[in-house]
This record gives sequence, C-alpha cells and structure tokens, in this order.
Amino acid sequence: MNLKAPRGTKDILPPESYLWLEIEQVVDDVARLFGFDEIRTPIFESSALFKRGVGETSDIVSKEMYLFSDKGGEEMALRPELTASVVRSAIEHNLISQQGALQRFYYNSAPMFRYERPQMGRQRQFHQFGVEVLGAASPLADLQTIAFGIAVYNRLGFKNFLLKLNTLGSEGSRTKWRSELVAYLRDNLDALSDDSKRRLEDNPLRVLDSKNPADQVIAAKAPSILDHLDTGDSDHFEELKVLLDAAGIKYEVTPTLVRGLDYYSRTVYELTSSDLGSQDALCGGGRYDGLIKQLGGPETPAVGFAAGVERLVIVLQKMRGAAERPAIDCYIAVQAENARKTLIDLASGIRNAGSSVMYDLQGRSMKAQMRDADRLKSRFVLIIGSDELARGEVTLKNMQTGEQRVLPVAEASNLKLS
Ligand code: HAM
Repeated sequence: MNLKAPRGTKDILPPESYLWLEIEQVVDDVARLFGFDEIRTPIFESSALFKRGVGETSDIVSKEMYLFSDKGGEEMALRPELTASVVRSAIEHNLISQQGALQRFYYNSAPMFRYERPQMGRQRQFHQFGVEVLGAASPLADLQTIAFGIAVYNRLGFKNFLLKLNTLGSEGSRTKWRSELVAYLRDNLDALSDDSKRRLEDNPLRVLDSKNPADQVIAAKAPSILDHLDTGDSDHFEELKVLLDAAGIKYEVTPTLVRGLDYYSRTVYELTSSDLGSQDALCGGGRYDGLIKQLGGPETPAVGFAAGVERLVIVLQKMRGAAERPAIDCYIAVQAENARKTLIDLASGIRNAGSSVMYDLQGRSMKAQMRDADRLKSRFVLIIGSDELARGEVTLKNMQTGEQRVLPVAEASNLKLS
C-alpha cells in the first residue's frame, strides 16, 4: 500500500520546521510586547457555529468545510477559521459580558481546514496566527491589529508587502450600496464570468474581488462603498487613516477589497506580498461589530486579523534561500574505551550551563564522529581521548579557528560555549 499525506496537506520536516519555530517565537514575542493573551480553542466545532458566524453564502462555508457527524449524530466541522470560535468561547465563558470588558487575544500556528483546490500558498490544512480584540469600537483598535501584523513581518525582515485598506460601512450604508451594486452588475451581466454571474445572486460583493480580468474591468467602474458611507462610517475610516499616517504605516485604499467572510463591517484590510503568486494575501482581517450579537452575545464591537503561516514560510524561503538547521555549540567525540560516564556527565554539565551538546549514538569511528560534528556545524568539539582521559583531561577544539587546548574534565563540564 502506498500511504501518502492527504492532498493539500504537508508534512513540515526539518530543516523547514526550524523556520516554523522561529515564526512562532516572533509571534509570541510580539504578542508579549503588545500585551495580548493566547487563546486555544478546539479543532472541531458544531458546524452551526460557522454557518451562522462566517455565513452560509461564503465559499468557506458553502463549499469548503470538512464536515462529519459524530457518534451522537451532531454535525461537526473542522474549523475553517478561528474568529467564530474565539467569539463562541468568549460568549460561553462570559469574557465580554460586563460593560467595558476588553479582551486582546492572539493565536499562534493554529491549524485550519478548507477543502480548496491546492496550489502554491493554498492548502487544505494550513496554519494561522492572528489576533481578535473584543470590546473596542475605536479605530485605535483597528490600528493595533494592523500594527501587530506588521511588527511580525518587520521582525522577520520582510520588505515587499503592501497594506490594502477598505471599509464596508455598517449595515445601513452597506444595504443601500449593495442594491446599487446589484443593479449595476445586472446591467453588465453579459460581460461577467460564469462564476460572477452565480455570485451576483448570493454574494454580489465577491464579484468585486474576482481575479477574472473581464470581471475586474466591470468591478473598476462599479458603484463604490466609499460614496455610500454614513457619517459614523466615514469618520471611523478617516480617523483610521490619520492614525495609520501617524504610525508611519503606508496603505493603499482599495475599494474592491471585500473579503470572503460575511461578518465584516467598516474596516477591512489585507497585507499582500509581491513575493507570492496569485495567492498573494499574507493576512486579512477587519472589524466585525455585529458578530458577537449574532452569535448570542452582548452587542460588542470587535476587530482582528489572521495570517497564513505557510505563505510566510514561502516568502522567508525566497528571501533567505532554503532553511538550514541551526549550528550546535558542542559535539563530544569519544575515542577512549569506557568513557560513557565521562561522556554523560560532560553532556549534562554543559547542557545545564546552557549550551547545546550532541554526540554519536551509533558507535561510529573517531573520523565519522568528526565528520558528524562538521555536518552539524558544531562550533566546538570536545574530544575524550584515551591518554587524556587517563589523566582526567579532555581536549577542546574550536572548529572556527582550529585552536585546541587541553583542560580538566571538571572544568569542561561547566563550559559555557554559546
Ligand atoms: P482569511 O482571509 O480567510 O481570513 O484568512 C486569513 C489568511 O489565512 C489569508 O490571508 C491567508 O494568508 C491564509 N489562508 C487562508 N486560506 C488558506 C489556505 N487554504 N491555505 C493557506 N493559507 C490560507 C480569516 O480567516 C479571518 N478569520 C481573519 C479575521 C480574523 N478577521 C477578523 N479576525
């Protein structure tokens, strides 16, 4: 039998897994700097959560959910995204029940599942980090989520990314705009792609971000939400732009940016990278002021984003070349017979002092051990030779300079080599 990982999934193997560790560390560091708390929710939820939360007409829910019935007969879904789960959890545990309650959550390398057509940067199991701020209506909160994402990309050395910004208004302005948009699209029906003709009926906003060139010509001349905002919506958008300018964050207002999930209101945004192919969104997010109420909680404004880790890894590998295993501090090469106790004591002493140590586990020759030390890019090699050991000594070789010195075993087991 030829067993393989399911289509659209990927084993994350070393050395690439070191990149993942680095990204997770950076996200944790940034979360600490911003004072965000980590949240972890179940990988599967009742499918009703996503149907109600993300929207029945979104692609994610209508076509891409991994559904199964559990033995109790309840329909479950592998989570396609985390916003609905975070909101469910906050309502269930009364985290936003008090007036003025504010939660700043983040998640890191969380697996998500969407039955999509796999291609570069698009998988069926993928991972997201992201943030959800529950309880803040101010554009300062929108700015904070954007600044969080940018801090992660900056720390990883990203250069070629762009913030695309739009507003979808609140429900009132959106309804008016939507009916004008539908009328305009109906007038141009013949020129639309089959996909967009279908979308026009159940999710007309999505026609605007179609990748089809003919649709894009129509979308460019479509009525813009920006001409339909009420005062509250346009004040919010203007204020956010002022804050972005103050923070030195460049953006491009993109009236065709509508996002694929139904819960957004007012601010929506994406960071895109020119180092990615057609799936160029590094992350996406926005405000969802109606979602908490819609899922049974108190009326609470909220904003957040999520970022694909696989796409981040693609860009990092493009920038840096293939991932490499990080160098180790010390390799202990054993020549002497009966040196196991010395080997074990040295290794644990040096590790306790904070340096990384490896040694051979296969009984290989001295030459093979030195080759191994080279392959592992060990900065130092400790050699336990027969003559030295008889005198209670070992040899320390600096692999960068080639310099060697003999030292007592007791001193070697306290070495700090990092
Ligand atoms: P989303 O735009 O569906 O938003 O996904 C966010 C990011 O996840 C995308 O920009 C992309 O980097 C990554 N992503 C999505 N689908 C795939 C896939 N099939 N393969 C690889 N990467 C993918 C959300 O999920 C919202 N929950 C974001 C949000 C949080 N809005 C408010 N709060």
